[in-house]
Amino acid sequence: MKKTVSTFQAMKAEGRKISMLTCYDYSTARLIDEAGVDAVLVGDSLGNVILGYPDTLAVTMDDMIHHGAAVVRGVRDALVVVDMPFMSYQVSVKQAVKNAGRLVKKTGCAAVKLEGGENVADRVRAIVDAGIPVVGHIGLTPQSVNALGGYKVQGRDEKAAVKLMHDARALEKAGAFAIVLECVPAPLAAFISSHVCVPTIGIGAGAGCDGQVLVYQDMLGLYSDMKPKFVRRFAELGEGMRQAFAAYDKAVKDGTFPNESESFKCDAAVLERLY
Ligand code: KIV
Repeated sequence: MKKTVSTFQAMKAEGRKISMLTCYDYSTARLIDEAGVDAVLVGDSLGNVILGYPDTLAVTMDDMIHHGAAVVRGVRDALVVVDMPFMSYQVSVKQAVKNAGRLVKKTGCAAVKLEGGENVADRVRAIVDAGIPVVGHIGLTPQSVNALGGYKVQGRDEKAAVKLMHDARALEKAGAFAIVLECVPAPLAAFISSHVCVPTIGIGAGAGCDGQVLVYQDMLGLYSDMKPKFVRRFAELGEGMRQAFAAYDKAVKDGTFPNESESFKCDAAVLERLY
């Protein structure tokens, strides 16, 4: 059944956990959707895992549209959320609404996500007022990596914890229908989750969140540039792929690929006439 914003609200109300995975292409989107995952996030983490950048800052609107549209074509039931890339919403409320609208029109996604709390509440409100559902994202916000001084756990001291709670409340008030909590101590994430009405989706934020999200390359063992503590590898496909590529290389070089059943035939008379 097609998942909507209302599905997420109902899941929180009923205490059912929400599963979300990132995705950036058609074939993987089909697999994730067929597996029954509730939501697919076309994250700007595509800057790292697809494009090989050291961070997400260089990702463009065109990158998000290109990958977002491919994912939407592969998904039947899951709710597709597309990330607003760095500098697509920071300049002004007007710019934020315009770019959120462009993402929806060009990809067909159901919602957008942007990073920040109280500081982006006016953007969230304006995008929601335009009829576009918004997911907030607080805690470790990778687009602010330079301001944060690296990829660090957020909300460890009292002042930072209070700020995160205010940020979550501001996003809820502004109309966000879900909030991603990234790299937040588990007890704080659980506290925030029980004090807001909208579902929280954790990544490195413990089991007390209303749902979880992981980057799919991380959970399949396909990406090893960074190995965050919170990632569980549900498969080691990276090693499997390396072995398959090596087997292909060997089969090509020793002439065992392709064999007869992997080749097309033609009438011998056709060939004879060529001599
Ligand atoms: O871009 C992304 O993949 C994300 C998740 C880490 C939540 O924002």
